[in-house]
Amino acid sequence: MRTEGAEASAPPLDERAALALDAADPLAQFRDEFLFPTDARGERKIYLAGMSLGLQPRGVEAAIQRELEAWAAFGVDGYFQPDGWYTIDERLRESMAAVVGAQPGEVAIANTLTVNLHFLLASFYRPTRERSLLLIDAPPFPSDRYAVESQIRQRGLDPVEALVVVEPREGESTIRTEDIEARIRVLGPRLATVLLAGVNYATGQRHGVARLTTVAHDVGAIAGWDLAHAAGNVPLDLHDWGVDFAAWCTYKYLNGGPGAIGALFVHDQHGSNPATQRFAGWWGNDPATRFKMEPKFVPRPGADGWRVSTPPTLAIAPLFASLAMFDQAGMAAIRAKSVALTGYLEGLILAHAGHSIEIVTPAEPEARGAQLSLRVRDEGPAATGLLGRLEEAGVVADFREPDIIRAAPIPLYTSFHECWRFARILAAATAALLM
Ligand SMILES: Cc1ncc(COP(=O)(O)O)c(C=O)c1O
Repeated sequence: MRTEGAEASAPPLDERAALALDAADPLAQFRDEFLFPTDARGERKIYLAGMSLGLQPRGVEAAIQRELEAWAAFGVDGYFQPDGWYTIDERLRESMAAVVGAQPGEVAIANTLTVNLHFLLASFYRPTRERSLLLIDAPPFPSDRYAVESQIRQRGLDPVEALVVVEPREGESTIRTEDIEARIRVLGPRLATVLLAGVNYATGQRHGVARLTTVAHDVGAIAGWDLAHAAGNVPLDLHDWGVDFAAWCTYKYLNGGPGAIGALFVHDQHGSNPATQRFAGWWGNDPATRFKMEPKFVPRPGADGWRVSTPPTLAIAPLFASLAMFDQAGMAAIRAKSVALTGYLEGLILAHAGHSIEIVTPAEPEARGAQLSLRVRDEGPAATGLLGRLEEAGVVADFREPDIIRAAPIPLYTSFHECWRFARILAAATAALLM
């Protein structure tokens, strides 16, 4: 945790510098591909809530319209038209695999995040008498905690004994990586599975997926990741890092729309093994025999074996518009701009409001993604009042209990000038609040 802003190098504070950064931005063209909420005067709001719900790509309407027209024109025959619904999720596989550094067969676009965590834990949390513990990081997203506790109970175990939550040290807001490592090593032969956040939803802290996966494997545990706040935000290399399983949603950094389809990763070493236990459904069955309506489940090799139900066409269609932009821009360029944009915003906040705003998110670019989690110094509950003032000034950010305001500049659609405007609005709102 950082307590003072002085160590961050101050960016140029003037408006011209912000505009010059936008003029030099190699991703600037993508900004016009998104629809922005507007205020009563029709002015674009400053949208910093992409860590909650990404903006709508312009191409989404046409993508959904295409499926509606196919439904109208073909009825059930829409499944087997060229580019029909039978394979609609599979046609996004390569783009999604590129976002998370997977082989295409290791990724499936299916279900929703918490549902996928349940399906994956059914396969990859298999406690034995000796090895029964499941380790997560704090603060866990409530849904993840509910999911893991119910999984533990479902195995006849008690979460009080089987669930290990690694917390930040007393007086600190984020977890030291060495503390997670040490805990994994101490638990060693008693640890069945770790399920960690690639980027923590509250603090914005990014955990080292490669390093912690290796440590979990060193003690013989399975390494799983919730990538809700990491996919499309930070670079990932799930296959090469040897991650066993992962799940994420597509409505945050991947702009899939409210309640959009989820996605999951199963490493090839497990996915190619038909003996890997899983909760089965007909969409995970080999497509060659799916319609033979036979009683025996024949899992399709790869992550597809964890699909269960018919793909929800209308919840998938928006991803065609969004992932096309990820294909075009590439995660390397997206990350490069993200590091610059978030660093710029951080420097401005510290320069304008550092005396009253604490940035909880780690300062090192490699220890965070786009999101900055802000706390009003010494005035925790004041954050709710602050959010109201920000909203009045045309900013969309959000608040997470107990005292965190989250703001994420998104490389595909946030400008440096918006960061510049936001920092000034934040400083004025904080000053007014603390007066
Ligand atoms: C880290 C994390 N886990 C789980 C969830 C729950 O996702 P879903 O409602 O799609 O199951 C969210 C949603 O925001 C999240 O941020």
